[in-house]
Amino acid sequence: MGDNLIELSKKNPNKQIIGIEPFLNGIASVVYSCVKSNINNILLYSHPVQEFLKNYKKIFFKEIFILFPDPWPKKKHLKRRLVQMPFVKILLERMEKNGKLYFATDNQNYFDEVQEHLNSDEIRKIPISIKKLDPNELILTKYFLRAKRLENKVSFLVIVKY
Ligand SMILES: C[S@@+](CC[C@H](N)C(=O)[O-])C[C@H]1O[C@@H](n2cnc3c(N)ncnc32)[C@H](O)[C@@H]1O
Repeated sequence: MGDNLIELSKKNPNKQIIGIEPFLNGIASVVYSCVKSNINNILLYSHPVQEFLKNYKKIFFKEIFILFPDPWPKKKHLKRRLVQMPFVKILLERMEKNGKLYFATDNQNYFDEVQEHLNSDEIRKIPISIKKLDPNELILTKYFLRAKRLENKVSFLVIVKY
């Protein structure tokens, strides 16, 4: 966790960037990078994103990045995937007008499943457009590099809310 966060914070010094990561090792490595590079526009939340959304209901997002979430490839673990219903709906509701949600994965089944959620009746009520993006536009996060090393196909999309 943290490569995209650090990059975003450097490119957007006047914006507040929120990093959400339940595992302390990930938090510690971001803190280290912030101190080293004198970054002071990142807020870190060291619990699951679902808790953040419940505890900070007044925060609406301009951009949300979900890059290479744990794929949970085994059938018996599919329910553990982060991006599923009703989570997707809650995220879209918490985005500002013209807000963007980026999602990338190298697990084709996960990507297909997310597209199915986005085409569901419940989501169709929300005004959005979905566009596939070139993965080369992604910054080289740890898990993007891993996907490249394994020669896995990476899928990347953006959902814009109107
Ligand atoms: C496979 S890693 C990908 C990390 C990074 N985005 C990358 O591309 O290298 C998935 C990350 O999601 C975090 N994660 C898992 N469940 C989460 C949750 N409920 N809320 C926030 N982060 C979570 C994990 O701790 C881990 O750091």
